[in-house]
Amino acid sequence: KSFLYKLWKGDVSSKMLNPRLQKAMKDYLNTNKHGVRFKGKRNSRLTGDQLFCEVKERVNVKTIDGKEAPFSTLGWEKHVPQIPLDKLYAHGFGSCAVVMSAGAILNSSLGDEIDSHDAVLRFNSAPTHGYEKDVGNKTTVRIINSQILTNPNHHFIDSSLYKDVILVAWDPAPYSANLNVWYKKPDYNLFTPYVQHRRKNPNQPFYILHPKFIWQLWDIIQENTKEKIQPNPPSSGFIGILIMMSMCDEVHVYEYIPSVRQTDLCHYHELYYDAACTLGAYHPLLYEKLLVQRMNKGLQDDLYRKGKVVLPGFRSVKC
Ligand code: C5P
Repeated sequence: KSFLYKLWKGDVSSKMLNPRLQKAMKDYLNTNKHGVRFKGKRNSRLTGDQLFCEVKERVNVKTIDGKEAPFSTLGWEKHVPQIPLDKLYAHGFGSCAVVMSAGAILNSSLGDEIDSHDAVLRFNSAPTHGYEKDVGNKTTVRIINSQILTNPNHHFIDSSLYKDVILVAWDPAPYSANLNVWYKKPDYNLFTPYVQHRRKNPNQPFYILHPKFIWQLWDIIQENTKEKIQPNPPSSGFIGILIMMSMCDEVHVYEYIPSVRQTDLCHYHELYYDAACTLGAYHPLLYEKLLVQRMNKGLQDDLYRKGKVVLPGFRSVKC
């Protein structure tokens, strides 16, 4: 059976990846750049429903609130939005869409379905203009990594992609989640542009994710995976799925688990081919996807044809 078919069934291991990706994974394990020291057990064999409840119980979307050092000393309580992310929408959203940036979404004609949701989450510099038919044009939340804030090519300050949306930024911090260490040496220095942007646009909700939240997700992925996963943060896609599970009654995820349109085209908006974008090299992406596949409540046919996974929101299920 093909790799894709096995992925749909949740039955793949890293040994089935091409040698280049396997080598990259091994190198990341050896480097352990973020000083991951996993103390838990691997390979808990939870069912999909048990896994959902474990995730619901453990995951706590946390953003920098300015109350902890060094941010407290630096006066960040007045820089961060007054209303925390989880209080922005008192009643949350009904149904939500998480739109992955994968090349496989091209020619999907999913745009209308995506826009029919109450809220839509997109990632980094993924555009809608010119791609409406396949990805829709509504954006409620945009998750951006620290490179978007720091690389001038992305025009973070003036691009319309980052206006009139809730922004959620993140940066790989040490596994210890020591904020002092992170502040002194972020992967990319998002702190300065963040404060500048907050000063200029005080009414736009804009948050930085707390490293504890990111690594909490990593721990859950490792605990529920037999193999050793890359000791690097989960991808923006996985982070976004969990944020929406905490804000929405139902989450429809598009082209995370690849559909029949699977392609090595990395992004729908860029002519660049690399299997690592879909299967992971730096991020433990393959394992994230296997976890999400286990929790899928959607139709198999929607998975194949739309690349769609449906997950309940945390508040929709009593555990
Ligand atoms: O590349 P970027 O991080 O901006 O893409 C957003 C997210 O979409 C990724 O973090 C990943 O979870 C998902 N993605 C994917 N397959 C691709 C490209 C992106 O699953 N080919």
